[in-house]
Amino acid sequence: MWNDLDRHRDRLAGTPIAALFDTDPARAQDFAVEAGDMRLDYSKTGIDRAARDALTALCDGSGLAVRRAALFSGAPINGTEGRAVLHTALRDPGSGPVFVDGQDVMPGLRDTLARMEAFADRVRADGQVCDVVNIGIGGSDLGPAMVTAALAPFHDGPRCHFVSNVDGAHIADTLRGLDPRRTLVVVASKTFTTIETMTNARTARDWMIAGGGDPATHFAAVSTALDRTAAFGIPGTSVFGFADWVGGRYSVWGPIGLAVMLAIGPAQFRAFLDGGRSMDAHFRSAPWARNLPVMLALTGIWHHQVLGHPTRAVLPYDQRLARLPAYLQQLEMESNGKGVTQAGDPVSRPVAPVVWGEPGTNGQHAFYQMLHQGAQVVPCEFLVAAKGHEPDLAHQHRLLLANCLAQSQALMGGRSLVEARAMLTGRFTGEELDRQARHRVFPGNRPSVTLIYPQLTPFTLGQIIAAYEHRVFVEGTVMGINSYDQWGVELGKELATALAPALDGGEAPADVDPSTQALLGYIRRHSS
Ligand code: F6P
Repeated sequence: MWNDLDRHRDRLAGTPIAALFDTDPARAQDFAVEAGDMRLDYSKTGIDRAARDALTALCDGSGLAVRRAALFSGAPINGTEGRAVLHTALRDPGSGPVFVDGQDVMPGLRDTLARMEAFADRVRADGQVCDVVNIGIGGSDLGPAMVTAALAPFHDGPRCHFVSNVDGAHIADTLRGLDPRRTLVVVASKTFTTIETMTNARTARDWMIAGGGDPATHFAAVSTALDRTAAFGIPGTSVFGFADWVGGRYSVWGPIGLAVMLAIGPAQFRAFLDGGRSMDAHFRSAPWARNLPVMLALTGIWHHQVLGHPTRAVLPYDQRLARLPAYLQQLEMESNGKGVTQAGDPVSRPVAPVVWGEPGTNGQHAFYQMLHQGAQVVPCEFLVAAKGHEPDLAHQHRLLLANCLAQSQALMGGRSLVEARAMLTGRFTGEELDRQARHRVFPGNRPSVTLIYPQLTPFTLGQIIAAYEHRVFVEGTVMGINSYDQWGVELGKELATALAPALDGGEAPADVDPSTQALLGYIRRHSS
């Protein structure tokens, strides 16, 4: 299959993307896929019909349909941890039984959702809490932080703040100005052992006590480890549990989304779940070439595994999605940044590209120079809403849209030397004209996809996140890896724990390398 794709890559090497529209007049329509009212346009990539067939063959060749059924059924597809992967159940609370180890998980899940809703309604109604501080990191931060920021037009509850970094600056800056008697702290940690989160949680508890607040009534917890939340002193009525079959980076749909629910209310949170569920239904039923998450995955595979582009830029023309690139870094790189297959053999090709990005139009004034004229090709992913949320500022949204469309057009079309020379004729002559023109050439033929939606609502955001989750699943399945463990984060954690005493005046572990020893010495000399 890969050889076949490599042949298509070689066959298409001399064909500019723009020329594919000349030979295939239906391309703009046929190289786009819709899920509900969301549209993914991948026509500005170098994929033609034959290459697309070869890409969709990867789905059949990797047993995607069987593995997709296993995902939704609760089978233990996380093979190194022996766990099911059931974040999809969180957004389908009304569905029939889903069994894990012979037990239907749906009643428990519905019960927790109802408790979250009652809790959120109470906090939002009594008005005593003005600020919520969510303390978590990784999936216990990026999901709720990204979603809360994205849904700002729907906020009608307390203000929500997010603290993740163990750097004391983060919590100090966040708590400054908040009233400890009117702040609710949500400690969000799947394991309730994560050093950053537990350290920040203790700092917040001390701050609350010192300021006359009561942690017994103003702390809530979200975790799978109910013994540890109790040991921390958080009453069971303010604890919302979930099971280990929800991966941290897939957890915003459940109790980890409590801060989101507090900000936008249970009804809008349900709309967010509905959006995710509608993408699930599409993903489960649409044929590969008409399936939005599948085509998102396959264009990514074409760019990374087939063409060898090492990175991908995520460019939301949506300021409220400013945290989306960071969220996708965890979702995609923690899930698929793996070097061995499920069987433990080395992967045949790199699996996860480096994902990076910033909202447009800000990025245009920073790194787009490199996207347009740099020596390295960076496939770009644009996200944009047809309509904004500020009726008085509709003209600004039109400008935003114009910029978004212009960028993908410029990346594909470029500007030739002839055009650059024509543009400069009259200002320069002779060799100087040539020299100046060469600086104004845009090579073009740079691929991009555009995900466009009517407006960024809770439902739409649910669709977007679920589409990206399924993209990761498809890529992982095609590459034969386990997307649901993260052993690569462990070694650094272990070494940090071993080094911490040395920074507290103790001895460094005997096996510390000379470079680290020297850095410890520098810190000792400069930190007193
Ligand atoms: O260290 C990585 C990680 O385990 C992520 O997968 C996870 O989202 C994050 O840490 C936080 O973990 P927890 O929710 O258990 O505090």
